[in-house]
Amino acid sequence: MLTNRTIEILDSTLREGEQTPGVSFHIDQKIALAKRLDAFGVDFIELGHPAVSPDVYEAVEALNDLELNAKKMAHGRAAKSDINDASEIGVEWMGIFFGTSTLSLKHKFNVTKAEALKRIESAVKYGKDKGLKLRFTAEDATRTEIKFLIEVGELVQVSGADRFSLADTVGCMTPKKIGELVSAVSSEIDMPIHVHCHNDFGMATANALSALEAGAQCVDVSVNGLGERCGLPPLAEVVTALTELHKVNGDWELGQLPDLSSLVESFTQIGSNANRPIVGKNAFTHKAGLHVKAVVKEPKSYEAIPPEKLRRTRQFVIDKYTGKAALKNTLAEMNIDASNSLLSAILREIKMQPEKVHWSNRELKSLFETLRTV
Ligand code: COA
Ligand code: ZN
Repeated sequence: MLTNRTIEILDSTLREGEQTPGVSFHIDQKIALAKRLDAFGVDFIELGHPAVSPDVYEAVEALNDLELNAKKMAHGRAAKSDINDASEIGVEWMGIFFGTSTLSLKHKFNVTKAEALKRIESAVKYGKDKGLKLRFTAEDATRTEIKFLIEVGELVQVSGADRFSLADTVGCMTPKKIGELVSAVSSEIDMPIHVHCHNDFGMATANALSALEAGAQCVDVSVNGLGERCGLPPLAEVVTALTELHKVNGDWELGQLPDLSSLVESFTQIGSNANRPIVGKNAFTHKAGLHVKAVVKEPKSYEAIPPEKLRRTRQFVIDKYTGKAALKNTLAEMNIDASNSLLSAILREIKMQPEKVHWSNRELKSLFETLRTV
């Protein structure tokens, strides 16, 4: 049960989100987004990795100067230079990462496990000496030998880290596997556990939720699921599922999600899929005649969430899949009262034009006028 647990959301739109191909936020856009994310109610905002470029460095500085309720976190490697950046900027939290899988040790760093542990330990101690609050992320944790992963967790814990984060860097987990991993790690480590799930198999949201159920405290998300390759769990999906399916009473302004999504879409020029949950164009649109008939009587018939909760509106589409009740409802909304035989005639005509996938009110009215006179 998640209901009575501390659940935190870390938004990484400004950091991982900017790793999306084709995306580079202007500093003013980052400031606007940070304010909106804060108003929405996320717990952490990842401000960026200052070493990336002068503009990211300046953005992290400017974002760190904002008065926000969310905790502000800089991102960086387990390296003195990156830790110095965070310290010089004066950010409260830093997320340090180091790849712990055999693949990372061999191909990224060419180090032994003992050497990796030494680098991790010295980075965490260095960061703590600088007075930073630290989240240590085991990058590629989900492809790391569990014994070594726990060894890393224990080491960063005794070295003073405040949080231990498990990254499913290539999104290879299933909900069951990540649940087991989080249980195994949290039974050995006495620190809040974070998870960072990638969406390469489309399971990031499910994996993040499963990790929370298994005992993780914080999950990384991004608006519209931005991030490297297939991105992260979308903020909207995670918080709405937590609220609706897990009955978590988070301090989140769900009604702000559609605007937040549109804002990010306007900054990135990357459109949300029409069928994306919660914020997608079709998420509250009904088409099949049998569905529309039922929804008109009782919206819950085909809606998991009332659109009003998200400040969205229910829509109906008229095309060849329409039934008589749906047509009657749409015409009634236009103050047109058609007889049963006229409804059938209109419907026959609509079904004869399969290429027309959306009949507008104007077109329906004109069809009604034509057919009523014949
Ligand atoms: N901890 C410590 N060092 C790390 C590391 C980690 N987690 N990950 C990589 N490194 C080291 C590598 O070993 C390599 O060191 P070397 O130059 O001594 O061989 C170096 O960082 C990375 O190589 P490269 O990218 O060629 O170095 P660079 O100095 O040109 O640029 C960045 C470094 C970080 C500024 C640049 O790669 C960048 O802008 N990256 C974008 C942010 C990013 O990659 N984020 C990943 C988030 S998961
Ligand atoms: Zn990532």
